[in-house]
Formats: sequence, C-alpha cells, structure tokens
Amino acid sequence: MKCRKCGGTAVLELRRHNAAFCAPDFIEFFRRQVGEAVRRHRMFTREESVLVAVSGGKDSLGLWDVLLQEGYATTGLYLDLGIFDYSKESRAKCEAFAAQRGAPLLVVSVEQDLGAAIPEVQGATRRPTCSACGLSKRYLMNKAALEQGFPVVATGHNLDDEAATLFGSILHWQTEPLARQSPALPSTHPKLVRRVKPLYRLSERETAAYAFLRRIDYIVDECPFAKGATSLMHKEILNQLEDVSPGAKHNFLFGFLEKGRPAFERLADVTLNECARCGQVTTGTLCGFCKLSDQIKRAR
Ligand code: AMP
Ligand code: FES
Ligand code: ZN
Repeated sequence: MKCRKCGGTAVLELRRHNAAFCAPDFIEFFRRQVGEAVRRHRMFTREESVLVAVSGGKDSLGLWDVLLQEGYATTGLYLDLGIFDYSKESRAKCEAFAAQRGAPLLVVSVEQDLGAAIPEVQGATRRPTCSACGLSKRYLMNKAALEQGFPVVATGHNLDDEAATLFGSILHWQTEPLARQSPALPSTHPKLVRRVKPLYRLSERETAAYAFLRRIDYIVDECPFAKGATSLMHKEILNQLEDVSPGAKHNFLFGFLEKGRPAFERLADVTLNECARCGQVTTGTLCGFCKLSDQIKRAR
C-alpha cells in the first residue's frame, strides 16, 4: 500500500476516500479536514477564543491538539461528572495534556451545580443516566462559556457520533433533534453560545489513528454507564453497513445535512425563554437542568 501523497509506505487505508496515507500525510489530511469544517461552517475565526470541551478521550484531545497546532486561541473545559475512577482518570488525562502544552484548562464540577454527581442521578429521575448526563454537559458547557466570555464551544463529536445520532433520531422521527443536528449550531439567543463540531468529517477510526500517531495519552475506557447504550448499537449497525459499502456513513450524514435538514429546520419553531431560576435558555419556564436538580433534592 502506497501513500496517495508521497508514494511512500502507507500506514492507514481510508477505503471511503479510496486512499492510503503515510503517517505525516495522514496527519496533514486530518488537519485539512478540520480546517475545511471550520471554514465551510464559519465555526470560528482566529480572533475568537474557543472553549474546547475535553473529556479526556481521543476525539476531544485530538481536536484540541489540531487547534493548538493551527494556532487558534483555545482553552480546554473539563466537566467533572463524578463518575468514580472513570472521571478521576479522564480528568488526569486532560490535565496532563494541558500541562504538557502550556494550554489553559478550566475544570467544572457537575456536583457543585447539580447538587449531586452523575451516578446519584439514577435513583432521582426516570431519565436514563446518559440522558441526564448529556443534558448537564450541554448546560454546563454553555454556562461556563457565558461566564468566561467565550463566544463558541467546540466538541469532539466525530462522523460516527453524528451518524449514530442521526440514525437514532430518524428511527423515531424526532423532528426537533433532526432540525438541530448540525456541525455548527448558531447562537439564537444572547444567552446561548455557538456550538461547533470540527471533527464531523472524520471517522472514529481516523481520530483514533490521529491520536495514536500524535502520541496523545487519552482514556481508552468507555464511561461505565455507556454499556448497552442504544447509541453504541446504532454505531455497530452503521459500521456493518460501512464494511460492505465504504462511504455509507458519510453519505448518510452528509446527504441529510444537505437535503434533509433544511426541511426539518422549517418545521422547527421554538421560542426560547430564560429559565425563571437560573436565567439560562429554555423552551419552558424552568430549564431541564433546574428541574433535574429539583428532582435530586426531592429524592434525598
Ligand atoms: P460524548 O457525549 O461522551 O460522546 O462526548 C462528545 C463530546 O462532548 C466530547 O468529544 C467532548 O468534546 C465533550 N465531552 C464529553 N464529556 C465531557 C466532559 N466530561 N467534559 C468536557 N467535555 C466533554
Ligand atoms: Fe455521561 Fe457516561 S459520560 S453517563
Ligand atoms: Zn435553569
């Protein structure tokens, strides 16, 4: 197998691109894909400070690595979910990464704002733990960005994550999530910061290869609550499709973004209010995070 760029020995074959790359040219390819995402969706400019949400995993640390290499002004944000050793280890990975590169890292504890760590959510609400956790993460990312004056939050969601989310939303024809599924969510309210996903063009296999080749020390373990999650099942199904038909995942997501999403966007008509308690954005009176925090208080 020869590298498409230089003709040297390739280390990675990308069947959906009908190409193979040596290590330096793969790294270059990866960075160009991130650059293309940032440009195409006007995610952020070099003048803006970007808050990069890092979980300690390969995707978000890989993303932070690319943005640092490209000279963007970035700060990391780690949300301590209080999930036993998993959180301790992932926090340590983020702290080591930031220290090695002299990059600033903010650490926010979920317990402080929510009144309990994520494992405690289980008995307090009928919501699945992962869904309560996702809600809390989105809330705290936005809050941290607003408080610290960042206009945009970047997450490490990759092509596999986005395709699996899309698959799940389509299985249930959830029109609101379908309208919101995008690599770049604009700020539609003064208290809502932009959210962007610069890795949406890159697969999980590619982010793993990038992290490996750049010698990024990341947490390999999955969150203990992720076991049996439907999103993992959807990823597996899409991987099987991809095996027999390289490019299927990409076509599924990109086809939707181009042809399907505009129709759903027209259907979505939400009015955003400020939460009566915390002032963050909600479609109701109290935001989901404040409701969850109430449920936890009651359960105690
Ligand atoms: P996940 O929802 O775990 O698939 O993570 C998707 C993205 O959300 C990651 O790539 C990160 O950018 C962000 N993220 C997940 N967990 C955390 C965390 N504990 N702290 C900060 N950002 C996170
Ligand atoms: Fe939130 Fe697993 S990371 S429940
Ligand atoms: Zn609230």
